[in-house]
Amino acid sequence: MFNAPEVTPAGRVTPPRPESLDFLSREILALKQSLNAVILAHNYQRPEIQDVADYVGDSLGLARQAAQTNADVIVFCGVHFMAETAKILNPGKLVILPDKDAGCSLEESCPGPKLKALQATNPNFWTIAYINCSAEVKALSDCICTSGNAVKIVKAAPKDRDILFVPDENLGGWVMEQTGRPMTLWKGDCYVHVEWTHAAITRIRERHPWAPVVAHPECPKAVRMLADEVCSTEKMVTWCQQTAATDIIIATEAGMLHRLKKECPGKNFIPAPTDRCACNECRFMKMNTLEKVHDCMLNLAPAIDLPAELSARARIAIERMLEISARD
Ligand code: 13P
Ligand code: SF4
Repeated sequence: MFNAPEVTPAGRVTPPRPESLDFLSREILALKQSLNAVILAHNYQRPEIQDVADYVGDSLGLARQAAQTNADVIVFCGVHFMAETAKILNPGKLVILPDKDAGCSLEESCPGPKLKALQATNPNFWTIAYINCSAEVKALSDCICTSGNAVKIVKAAPKDRDILFVPDENLGGWVMEQTGRPMTLWKGDCYVHVEWTHAAITRIRERHPWAPVVAHPECPKAVRMLADEVCSTEKMVTWCQQTAATDIIIATEAGMLHRLKKECPGKNFIPAPTDRCACNECRFMKMNTLEKVHDCMLNLAPAIDLPAELSARARIAIERMLEISARD
């Protein structure tokens, strides 16, 4: 059963939602009240999950929200490392996630023991870990960063140390271009963002010559070079709100389009095509469904559980990031 389609203020017709989604949303909101829970969702989550969340944002915004919340239960709708970060910042709270298997190709690329072995080759390394990594890797790092603050974190790193940047080679390469600071880069990538190519972006630009291109820094250099703006998913929202352009090409995961359409009514977002496949969806982010959000709140599981000592070490690196990030 579907509800009737709605006409938005911008005159567009939104597709009808199945009534079951509305029922689940109402149940989730009732559970939220009774549990004193907060629902945090990443910008790549399914639209119906974004719509029940208390906060939708990028990794930095989500970490900040997790650090500030007064809720007893954190329902984290994103991937596993994001929920883990929330738990590290809130060891005394219950942090649950819809699907515990929602991983990340960047996290997978950097196992703790391999990082430890590389660190042992240079005692002068200062390790900056992109937040897309395991708690074990965070615990081995001096500071964490997100795509929203990576440039600031690298600029604040001790000048006499050699920076080891893990695990995203593309984000690291972009930060080197922005800061001029040489870094040793781990060879990991986001399996979604590397699907965008120079040829595919060039083709879509030819079809929409007035539309600026906004790309995530996890995209390869050949794509970043064609972009008018390279930024985190949260900065994409403010950039698109502020630009005079009405048509904008977006090179990041498809979930972002829901958030952008909501925040920028009247603008037209064109998903940048990929070359080899139509795969601009992160299979990990999409493992979460509204039904799983509901079930995890009902069962209070799966929950994140971490060894206290590992969590305490990881927390130092995350808090250093939050402190540097808050500086003027
Ligand atoms: P943001 O922090 O920019 O939202 O990026 C997170 C992510 O996983 C991108 O693939
Ligand atoms: Fe990881 Fe890429 Fe998915 Fe982001 S989009 S969670 S970096 S696999």
